[in-house]
Amino acid sequence: MRAWRFATNPRSRQPSMTSVQFDCAPADLGDRVREAAQAVLAALGPAQAPIGLVLGSGLGGVADQITDARAIPYDKIPYFSKSTVPGHAGKLVAGRWQGHTVLALAGRVHGYEGHPWWQVTLPVRVLAALGVQVLVVTNAAGAVHTALQPGDILLMTDHINLTGANPLVGPNDARLGPRFPDMTAAYDPELRKICEDVAASKRIELRRGVYCGLSGPSYETPAEIRMLGMLGADVVGMSTVSEVIVARHMGVRVLGLSCVTNLGAGLGEGTLDHGHVAEVALDTTARMTALVAGVVAALPDLHVRSRSL
Ligand code: HPA
Repeated sequence: MRAWRFATNPRSRQPSMTSVQFDCAPADLGDRVREAAQAVLAALGPAQAPIGLVLGSGLGGVADQITDARAIPYDKIPYFSKSTVPGHAGKLVAGRWQGHTVLALAGRVHGYEGHPWWQVTLPVRVLAALGVQVLVVTNAAGAVHTALQPGDILLMTDHINLTGANPLVGPNDARLGPRFPDMTAAYDPELRKICEDVAASKRIELRRGVYCGLSGPSYETPAEIRMLGMLGADVVGMSTVSEVIVARHMGVRVLGLSCVTNLGAGLGEGTLDHGHVAEVALDTTARMTALVAGVVAALPDLHVRSRSL
């Protein structure tokens, strides 16, 4: 037998008895959601709203357009984690926007920051607990489909979860939602129609397609981008899918929009860089903001959904 040429640790010859741990939601998740929602109400006063916004890259400016705004930083809300990514500030804002009462998550945390998935998705659960029945989620994404270009806005029609995780793993609290939530129409057809109509009336070009969520934080390899194309993905990103799963778990209707910031690895010249991704997202801000504003303005009067937690 050929000698092994690397140093080995003689004590590591025994097979490890460590078991693989699932990233599990805690059994008292419903109580934690209630506690966090109560902290928001205690800090902001009445803050229930029927419409929620997750302001991803390039849409952060919406938080400044909210009137009668009251805000609470994430680090003042129990169980929330603080984002470590520049450009993802981290505060929950309540107020009025486009004729509606809204709750906005300005900044999100990601799984790649090391937070467990139940905690990454807790802010969305808190919005749902505060009455949200329509959630608009936005993100930055890389193009997988070769017809897409940086600067395109893409209406999410569906997603593929390749994060390797699901935020619902763990005991299910039936007060939050069912054990096996349906994901057939995760991206609400009626909301998509409203968005298409608004885009047409504002002459904002809108692409549509499937978002594939990966855990990151490394960008994909060219081979992975080719694989994602074969799997049916049109864009790829590192957020959103877990938030949408949790929103659907709680019966919240979702509209998802991606800002295409770059060609996927290997589809263009050069390499990928977060600074450039953030820059393109910023360049798209005006169109993306106008589109989301138009969609929210076009929504009918919705009532705050009451939940017993
Ligand atoms: N890959 C993954 N996530 C991303 C990308 C990408 O190319 N661009 C923006 N977010």
